[in-house]
Amino acid sequence: MSSTLFRTKNVEQSIQDTEEPEHALKKSLSALDLTVFGVGVIIGTGIFVLTGTAAKNTAGPAVSLSFVMAGAVCALAALCYAEFASTVPVAGSAYTFSYASLGELPAWTIGWDLVLELALGTAVVAVGWSGYIHSLLDNWGWHLPEALGGRDGATGFGFDILAAALVLLLTAILVVGMKVSARVTSVVVGIKVAVVLIVIIAGAFFVKGANYDPFIPKEQPATAGGSLKAPLVQLMFGWAPSHFGVMGIFTAASVVFFAFIGFDVVATAAEETRNPQRDVPRGILGSLVICTALYVAVSIVVTGMQKYSSLSVEAPLADAFKTTGHPWFAGLISFGAAVGLTTVCMILLLGQSRVFFAMSRDGLLPRFFSQTHPKFRTPYRSTILLGVVIAVVAGFTSLSELAELVNIGTLFAFAVVALSVIILRRTRPDLPRAFRTPLVPLVPVLSVLASLWLMLNLPAETWLRFAIWMLIGFVVYFLYGRSHSRLAPRGHTPAGQPPRPPA
Ligand code: ALA
Repeated sequence: MSSTLFRTKNVEQSIQDTEEPEHALKKSLSALDLTVFGVGVIIGTGIFVLTGTAAKNTAGPAVSLSFVMAGAVCALAALCYAEFASTVPVAGSAYTFSYASLGELPAWTIGWDLVLELALGTAVVAVGWSGYIHSLLDNWGWHLPEALGGRDGATGFGFDILAAALVLLLTAILVVGMKVSARVTSVVVGIKVAVVLIVIIAGAFFVKGANYDPFIPKEQPATAGGSLKAPLVQLMFGWAPSHFGVMGIFTAASVVFFAFIGFDVVATAAEETRNPQRDVPRGILGSLVICTALYVAVSIVVTGMQKYSSLSVEAPLADAFKTTGHPWFAGLISFGAAVGLTTVCMILLLGQSRVFFAMSRDGLLPRFFSQTHPKFRTPYRSTILLGVVIAVVAGFTSLSELAELVNIGTLFAFAVVALSVIILRRTRPDLPRAFRTPLVPLVPVLSVLASLWLMLNLPAETWLRFAIWMLIGFVVYFLYGRSHSRLAPRGHTPAGQPPRPPA
């Protein structure tokens, strides 16, 4: 049995699968497209919303250090992702990479985990987007009924109709085709980066030195929420749950980590890239470096403009300008944020439909979902199915706890990818690697430890939810995926093809 759980799909076979005409995606993206793609998905709710929450509740002005830490964890992971993406250039990201190295069960685990990351991530961003739209509508004196705003009104019932509508609209764009969405993306990414630069440059004129004192606020005991809300590491070592202080910087890092999610999604587009061996690593590392620099600058400026304890948790960047008496800037920033979050949402949605597509093409999920559209050549069935599910989730759920769940899932994927780099170097040293992770196994080992450390700084209840999701995944795998896998001796195979033997 263990041999079937760890059967691997070899790399040549993975690449060959992408060339079957009715399961093939169009190869149209360049390194620049990928970098734009990366920046497009990376800058989002994390910097526009979570900066305020993290500074106000857990780290104070030292949130800028949290961004540096989270960025460092991502840089280590990016070095591993880049090697994998340049070795196994097919759709599916960490899922595909681990199928080629660790085996089917680990691959399923990671794929299931990525669906969580990307689907809930899309929902989180859609809700954040809807918040900014509400704020703009409020400025113009227009208000949606409470129940359609997703805010718990008197009845406790709310459906965020704007968030759901956004997801459905973007689903339709993705079904029509990659190139259209990439073009729209570049314009929107330009607007978003311009707005972030405005915050940094204009905001720098309003910074007051006194706001940085204290830079690391004194540790305070946590009063609300009970032990499940405390970071797991504090419970494990029997420390009293607390906010701020040095540990607060780590807690904040595990939250603002959300701001970096997305560079790994670039790897999911490898199959649609003209020269994946060269361009995917460039796209991943390039977009990560640009975003880290912008985040650190934004968080330094914003916590200098306004005392951390008075920062807003809904729209901290815009509200900091309101307090300086510049509502016009605030409006501009809100508008840019709303526009920018659209692309984040779209690319997360794209990444997740591609992971689902790859899992379905391998037979671990029904193969019905991996038929590409005869005209648009997009995986329209998985895109539509997941788009509708996410629209419903985005309509009914709220933001922060979902973001933490997304983070734990992503960090887990990082750890598996880093391990896979080490394993694949041993099992397939012969494969050409356009990009090689430096200092193997040191860098991958550090990447695993760093990801694990951030995971430990997430609340105990987040671990619990993650465990439940993964458990459901195992049930699905053992009831369906294992027997329907294309690597299974009597697995379902496309008409006219003999079953493939395990690699
Ligand atoms: N990194 C993306 C964001 O912050 C997901 O919204």
